[in-house]
Amino acid sequence: MERTLIIAKPDAVQRGLSGEILRRFEQRGLRLIGMKFMQVSRDLAERHYAEHEGKPFYNGLVDYITSGPVVVMAFEGRNAIVAARTTIGATKPHEAAAGTIRGDFGMDIGRNLVHGSDSPGNGEREVSIFFNEDELISWGRDTEKWIFE
Ligand code: RTP
Ligand code: MG
Repeated sequence: MERTLIIAKPDAVQRGLSGEILRRFEQRGLRLIGMKFMQVSRDLAERHYAEHEGKPFYNGLVDYITSGPVVVMAFEGRNAIVAARTTIGATKPHEAAAGTIRGDFGMDIGRNLVHGSDSPGNGEREVSIFFNEDELISWGRDTEKWIFE
């Protein structure tokens, strides 16, 4: 069982796309276990993006993710990391495949709408920095057997 942290970034919220983004993951068959609307603090952004510290785009990235409210979602399930990343699309939206979130709604790497964890380890780490355990609900989904054999 994997966990992935999805963020509808400030550009997605400003453009009214947070519902569309949730819809795509729900429709895919990922099981939602937590969701909140929040403004990311500088401290939280720096912890979340610690692996990018020192890269040329790091300061801009922290400015971007803290620039307005976001919708943060946690999903759980078999292969959740890869499934979410394929629904999101390539990092550069102008190269992302049509049908992906970035390919359907984005043009610029600095406005790429959505974050998804890139490994099971980072999924666990990121979910635990954005959510307390008591904010997560591991519920039984009645349609599970129609989504996973
Ligand atoms: P994310 O973490 O947001 O899901 O995106 P990702 O895995 O596809 O890309 P990653 O390499 O983790 O980069 C994190 C975010 O940093 C910004 N970025 N800008 N200007 C640049 O060269 C550059 N490279 C990365 C993007 O906003 C990217 O989503
Ligand atoms: Mg990443």
